[in-house]
Amino acid sequence: MPANGPIKVGFIGCGGIAGGHLTSYKTLPEFQVVAACDINKQRARDFAEAAGAEAVFTDWREMIRNTELDAVDICTPHTLHHEPAIVAAEAGLHTIVEKPMATELAHCDAMIEAADLNGVIVMVAQVLRFRDPYIETRRLIDEGRIGKVQNVIRRRWSFVRETAQDPWASDPSLAGGWVLYGFGSHAADLILWLTRSEANSVFAAGRKINPHWNDYDDINIQIELSNGAMALQSHSINSRTSAWDCTVIGTEDSLYIAGDKIIVGEDELHVPLQEFNGMREQLAEFAAAIREDREPEASGKDVRKTMVLLEAAKISLREGRIVDASEM
Ligand SMILES: NC(=O)c1ccc[n+]([C@@H]2O[C@H](COP(=O)([O-])OP(=O)(O)OC[C@H]3O[C@@H](n4cnc5c(N)ncnc54)[C@H](O)[C@@H]3O)[C@@H](O)[C@H]2O)c1
Repeated sequence: MPANGPIKVGFIGCGGIAGGHLTSYKTLPEFQVVAACDINKQRARDFAEAAGAEAVFTDWREMIRNTELDAVDICTPHTLHHEPAIVAAEAGLHTIVEKPMATELAHCDAMIEAADLNGVIVMVAQVLRFRDPYIETRRLIDEGRIGKVQNVIRRRWSFVRETAQDPWASDPSLAGGWVLYGFGSHAADLILWLTRSEANSVFAAGRKINPHWNDYDDINIQIELSNGAMALQSHSINSRTSAWDCTVIGTEDSLYIAGDKIIVGEDELHVPLQEFNGMREQLAEFAAAIREDREPEASGKDVRKTMVLLEAAKISLREGRIVDASEM
């Protein structure tokens, strides 16, 4: 880790979200993107050019071995997150990895262990934690504006009939279940983060409706939280009425958030989303944690709670029963 000078970053996976990360890196002098790796060489080349980086790779092991790096930014399909994170940690590199942290709890544990053993950071890009409307929502809950939280309902419903835009999203061996891990990781993390709680037990039910997606594409997950509240995350890509919102019901009042709008009791607030949708703040936190040698917000250890919830949901979907978090 450099005492001075920018943190040198190598990208692993140079697709859609990597481009979003890059836009924010360019505004942060704390970082210098120096290498790009993608199995699609042209994509890696184009990305390196956009980043002003010279090193281009199609094999991330080679990039880690042959480039002077301080950190990697992993933006690959879901089941390809854990291996580069572990190898990067073993090489003494910090990692920021896109959500979901991984698709197996055992892989998350291996990532955390490798980071701990090598004294580096593993942070998960749970970007919702860095968006102002959600930060304000959490603050309102913390200050007791709605009393004691009793029930949280997070919905993400849309209608998608064609094949997933990214072919890997409908391949369970790469996505681990797109709706569960792609959408579900955001919702599970938000519920636990807003309520400062963990999942005690989980029951999930799912349907496979869209013939192109090859996994559960309608999922309801019912959660008993450690703070005594209950929660529901509901996901659908088969709903002609769309929804992307969260209701939090407390003993004194309730709160509703969608986009930049927060309704608390009689009040309607508007908290604009920052430029770059929280991505810039997320990366600034990654840099600060590296500089200050501390755990970042959304550290691997913290996000493990989210991954326990999703692991329990996965087992519940498979076995049709309530899964206790203590089983994990
Ligand atoms: N935070 C958000 O809101 C958000 C939004 C979109 C995607 N994501 C997450 O970002 C990750 C990537 O999604 P995306 O939409 O950018 O996908 P994408 O398909 O656009 O990009 C993935 C890239 O990884 C490359 N790749 C695949 N295997 C590789 C390997 N072994 N080594 C190097 N590169 C490899 C692919 O060629 C591709 O360019 C996923 O975890 C996804 O859930 C997060």
